[in-house]
Amino acid sequence: MSVRTGAEIVGVDLKHPLAPRTAKEIWAALLQWKVIFFRDQHLDHAQHVAFARQLGEPTIGHVLYGHEENFPEVYSVAKRRERHTHMDARPIRPWTGWHTDLTTIVNPPAASILRGVTIPPYGGDTQFANLVAAYAALSPAMQKFVDGLRGIHGYGEVTGNALTQTNRKSFSSEHPLVRVHPETGERALYVSPEFLKSIVGLGARESQVLLEFLWEHCVRPEFVVRFRWNAGDVAIWDNRATAHLAPEDVFDTDFDRQLYRVTLVGDVPVGVDGTPSRPIVGEMLGPAQPAH
Ligand code: SIN
Repeated sequence: MSVRTGAEIVGVDLKHPLAPRTAKEIWAALLQWKVIFFRDQHLDHAQHVAFARQLGEPTIGHVLYGHEENFPEVYSVAKRRERHTHMDARPIRPWTGWHTDLTTIVNPPAASILRGVTIPPYGGDTQFANLVAAYAALSPAMQKFVDGLRGIHGYGEVTGNALTQTNRKSFSSEHPLVRVHPETGERALYVSPEFLKSIVGLGARESQVLLEFLWEHCVRPEFVVRFRWNAGDVAIWDNRATAHLAPEDVFDTDFDRQLYRVTLVGDVPVGVDGTPSRPIVGEMLGPAQPAH
């Protein structure tokens, strides 16, 4: 755990229904620490979904990459997923691979609940950055500047000022660069590096230089916590206040890595001036239709 980010919660068995007060305390810890961890829970898919339902409404597993058979809410995060830094010729930067889940959609998930099933004996850690702490550490002048900006999130690449969507991944949204958290009122630097492509109203070079500064800033070690998984562990992150980085080191080993994720329906982000995000391409993300 780091000073501002990440808390391990002990003495709770997530396999069984929680007392309403316990569920509230878990949520309060999430709001405070941005990412929380539970060791040794060993949930199956049904228990994972049942736990998630006590915190919110599960979405479809992954709107683009699908879900587990008979469990529309459960998304498989497996080593066989493509490796980010080798899938194209992009330069690798300190922020490469960091992202906030599904910010291409106008209402990205409020939280993500990831459980570890097959974990390598070493390597395969996940890192989380606290975007509220990152915002707070900016100078007042920079805060004032970014407070008024909005960004275009998508899957394509930016050429000049235009975002070229690939056909397969047709989601894109405009979000504020600074998101006011709907529950805490805190301001988060909402700059999902993998998905935020350009800043509205800036020239291409202005946008690129400012984004690179903000991305580099938000993954500084003092805002980050690194989680070493064991089989059976559960991590929950507040997707409105964090970015995270899936590991790349496992691709250099023969070890398997299998985790499963359930995400909770989120609201439409709102900026400092009260203006909500807007969809450019694609629908809102609603609750999954349960299969059982
Ligand atoms: C994710 O990005 O949701 C998964 C993180 C991980 O594989 O550690």
